[in-house]
Amino acid sequence: MNGPRTIDLTGEAAADARALRDAFGCFTTGVTIVTTLDGGGAAAGFTANSFASVSLDPPLALISVAREASCLPALEASGVFVVNVLHVGQQDLARQFARRGCDRFEGVTFDTWHTGAPVLPGCMANFECRAHDIVDAGDHRILIGRILKVHHDAEHEPLVYLRGGYRKVHTD
Ligand SMILES: Cc1cc2nc3c(=O)[nH]c(=O)nc-3n(C[C@H](O)[C@H](O)[C@H](O)COP(=O)(O)O)c2cc1C
Repeated sequence: MNGPRTIDLTGEAAADARALRDAFGCFTTGVTIVTTLDGGGAAAGFTANSFASVSLDPPLALISVAREASCLPALEASGVFVVNVLHVGQQDLARQFARRGCDRFEGVTFDTWHTGAPVLPGCMANFECRAHDIVDAGDHRILIGRILKVHHDAEHEPLVYLRGGYRKVHTD
């Protein structure tokens, strides 16, 4: 394990992506699967932890998507997505949707609501969104979605992500 580090990113050190990634990794997040529809109407999706709530009125939320992410063209073309918030029992699903070169939807059943984008059943929460705004942000694009429909189930414990690993919340 590395000890404490302070890195000034105003100069040449901007290339130290590892240190920045490690610092970002100190912020605990939930884990989601963002689903959408590709040009042929087929289901597409990827694991994402950049989900954040934005506004209650109107109801808005955001995801930050890497410019090179294979799902970005589908997200931009369809303009619809669902953020499926995973519970602690869905770690395998998180891994499956972060894997490259496989059918991420193999063995996965889903529902559809207003937009046709896949809604994964049994999640801790689902947010169906229509693209409200897209913002260029460095090597990512921020998709702000207008939330059309939500489902949540407070009975579940969340799957969380911290320092590059999946964790569960300890309540005592
Ligand atoms: C826990 C976790 C969180 C992730 N969060 C994001 C994210 O918020 N945005 C993003 O673009 N990629 C994120 N990724 C990476 C995507 O899942 C990535 O697109 C995928 O692993 C590579 O697939 P692709 O080449 O089909 O894009 C995350 C991966 C993991 C494991």
